[in-house]
Amino acid sequence: MTEPTSLLADRMSNIDASGIRKVFDLAARMKDPINLSIGQPDFDVPDPCKDRAIEAIRKGRNRYTVTQGDAELREVIAANLKREFGRFDGPVLVTSGSSGGILLALMATVNPGDEVIVPDPYFVMYKHLINLIGAKPVFVDTYPDFRPRADRLEAAVTPRTRMIILNSPCNPTGAVLSAEDLAAAVAVAKRHGLLVMSDECYDAFVYDGAFASTWPLYDRVILLRSFSKTYAMTGWRLGYAVGPAEIVQAMTMLQQYTFVCGPAPLQAGAAVAFETDTAGRIEDFRQRRNMIYDGLRERFRVEKPGGAFYIFPEAPGGNATRFVARAIENNVLIIPGNVFSERDTHFRISYAASRETIARGIEVLNRLAHQEGA
Ligand SMILES: Cc1ncc(COP(=O)(O)O)c(C=O)c1O
Repeated sequence: MTEPTSLLADRMSNIDASGIRKVFDLAARMKDPINLSIGQPDFDVPDPCKDRAIEAIRKGRNRYTVTQGDAELREVIAANLKREFGRFDGPVLVTSGSSGGILLALMATVNPGDEVIVPDPYFVMYKHLINLIGAKPVFVDTYPDFRPRADRLEAAVTPRTRMIILNSPCNPTGAVLSAEDLAAAVAVAKRHGLLVMSDECYDAFVYDGAFASTWPLYDRVILLRSFSKTYAMTGWRLGYAVGPAEIVQAMTMLQQYTFVCGPAPLQAGAAVAFETDTAGRIEDFRQRRNMIYDGLRERFRVEKPGGAFYIFPEAPGGNATRFVARAIENNVLIIPGNVFSERDTHFRISYAASRETIARGIEVLNRLAHQEGA
């Protein structure tokens, strides 16, 4: 007789997805919900990208590309970065969305037992992947305005700290960090020789002024971008990573033994994405941002988000899980803050939804807030 053993590896106990699972269990019982939980744009892939991908399939571009990504796509990405930053000559790795980039970057640079500083609230994947590789997430509270402060980042640094993660525009808060915010955070990393992983997958979704990137500030930035949100290609699984050559090479080697390469015909389609004009869509999202913020600000304590397509109000009564359960009972699907945070005081709304859905959601949420006496 062999000892009964778990079917799963020990590392799986490092991942706890119970928060989001509870929400989806509740949501499964909803009929035709007012769904304000979706983290992807509600428009479709630009036609030129579709046409190019279909043509690529027909012409037989259906085999593996090289691990680092199709040469044409990498050239287009490099040219685009050069246009944006004035200068760019580093290696480019085409990744499986920015998610692929996050995993490869962590695996390539962070040792078990190392600490990674994560501003809180944070994109869910960071916490779980840091735990998965046996490292430790160290959360730095950014409430109430969701800007990581340099003194708090500094206080979180220990001899085991390896990396700071920055995400602007931020999921779940919609906060956009200014060039000064970024410079202050990067100064902490520089002082201690830390890496910075900058997740800029919402770089196109900025509504008040220009987007500021972390890339020009420091030579130890791993920059992750994505085609997913900007071009509504979440299912195409394409993003890219750039950074110190040694790190990009190590990530490429890991990709060779994991993801292998991005989908070949879709890489062909993505190569014309930068030529498409997204201004009208971004303006449409800006108007929806205004609509949700103006609709909620009288009854909710809420920061005006500058980007992405999320807003992160405080839950009336201070308990987000309880408030979200009430919202779900009233047919509105939103996500409690404890899915994205060590606190459970706020909730995430995605306004990547029709104006009609947003309007219905605002009406129900205000009614619930009124009942809470807010
Ligand atoms: C902050 C952030 N980073 C990364 C991702 C992953 O997106 P993808 O892998 O599709 O690029 C998401 C998706 O929601 C996100 O919100």
